[in-house]
Amino acid sequence: MDENRLKSIVLKLTQLGYRVTPDAFDIIRGIDPSVLEDNLDRIRDMARDGWITKEVLEKMIGGSRSDRVEVSVSTTTMQQVIESRVEIVRDPYREVEKGVTIQHFYKLFVDRFDKLSKLIRMHSGWNTATSIEAALKARQGEDVKVIGMVMEKKITKRYIGILLEDLDSTVKVIVPFDDPELKAKGEQILVDQVIGVAGVRGRMDTIIAKEIVFPDIPPRKPRKADEEVYAALISDLHVGSKLFLRDRFEKFIRWIKGDVYIEGLDRIRSKLKYIVVAGDIVDGVGIYPNQERELEIKDTYGQYDAALRMIKEIPSSIEIVIIPGNHDATDKTQPQPPPMKYVKDYIDGCENIHIVGNPVWVKIHGIEILVYHGRSLDSVIASIPGFSANRVDEAMEVLIRARHLTPIYNDSSPITPTSIDTLIIDEIPDIFHAGHVHIEKQRYYKGVLIVNSGAWQAQTSYQKLNGITPTPAIIPIIDLSRLSVKLVDFS
Ligand SMILES: [Fe+2]
Repeated sequence: MDENRLKSIVLKLTQLGYRVTPDAFDIIRGIDPSVLEDNLDRIRDMARDGWITKEVLEKMIGGSRSDRVEVSVSTTTMQQVIESRVEIVRDPYREVEKGVTIQHFYKLFVDRFDKLSKLIRMHSGWNTATSIEAALKARQGEDVKVIGMVMEKKITKRYIGILLEDLDSTVKVIVPFDDPELKAKGEQILVDQVIGVAGVRGRMDTIIAKEIVFPDIPPRKPRKADEEVYAALISDLHVGSKLFLRDRFEKFIRWIKGDVYIEGLDRIRSKLKYIVVAGDIVDGVGIYPNQERELEIKDTYGQYDAALRMIKEIPSSIEIVIIPGNHDATDKTQPQPPPMKYVKDYIDGCENIHIVGNPVWVKIHGIEILVYHGRSLDSVIASIPGFSANRVDEAMEVLIRARHLTPIYNDSSPITPTSIDTLIIDEIPDIFHAGHVHIEKQRYYKGVLIVNSGAWQAQTSYQKLNGITPTPAIIPIIDLSRLSVKLVDFS
């Protein structure tokens, strides 16, 4: 609020014999002056002891709907003072060629090997790695160092056996369990990922590993926004499902608009500028057997109508980035294009809503976010001993170390055959945001803020069967100037 206008309102209140407490000033600053002026009588009624307190103003904001003041004022203020800065840096579905053939799969894996082995060679001492063929020519007991793609992984009682291949040869790598650190690293190796192995030449065309290297990222200092501004990271609405928690999602929207007051969050709300949605906006139709029994809205169009109607209620001053998930109406192979044209048509004219593909690299207020729905997390979690959905943040860290969003090639996380591997994490983001698992988790890894944004759907029968307890309606809101997380519970 303009300081002169603030002064004139406070002066007016003072002339009327009222005094304003310091904490009430902060609230007054976030409210449109005209709203305050229109409600002076109500404020005076509530402040009978002569003091305009924080509680009095909160009571004014939180009044009944019929007589509520226009409380979307904070966002109106925000729209005036916070500039929109959204840049789609990379939307990989756009890199997919037309007319793909089976040959493209071969090219894709060669490209993956080529790019990720180059990243491993950048690690200190790894530019001397040889081909597998050369390593196999070494004498037994001699030191060797190779880079390859994992064809098979087998965990036994005493070691992990890896079948590693490069462009010409294969070799069996034994990861012994006598070194706990090496064992832990070995357990996190994923089939189809590219790794470096240093060890000694063993018997019968084997290498006994002494060191394992992932492409990984170097430690880095994340970028930070040059002003205090917030982004809410959400995902997995599943609109259309009987289990979609409509009342909680509507509460979230009402909070953004100012219709719901939450203690201690008004400053964040007034500076909330971005919402990033990591897929599964709707529950879809025919996604899994007998899904229709669990659907409240049984057609895709109706589901998107309901979802977008709610999303369009969000003030236009807030920039919204939406990617699809495996439940959305688009190709299921990754990278996924945006949801069907109907969705784009529905939001036609809403310039603050950006519908893009999955994954996407997007820069908001100078902070780069890699947004990925997270379908590959299922197979990553299933592949690593001791991992579960509750450790989804660690599984996301595994993806960063692998420098790949879908390291394991299998049916549950299909990829589009392309001559370049578009799912490599080439550009290191400041924030890595995913969903899919329906469990809210965050952690920092080498300067990257990892966030899984949970869901807005209650526990499904599938999740119950698999012992997954979702954390719906708890959302991480990121202060982009500090890269810190505030969890807000809308349940
Ligand atoms: Fe989901």
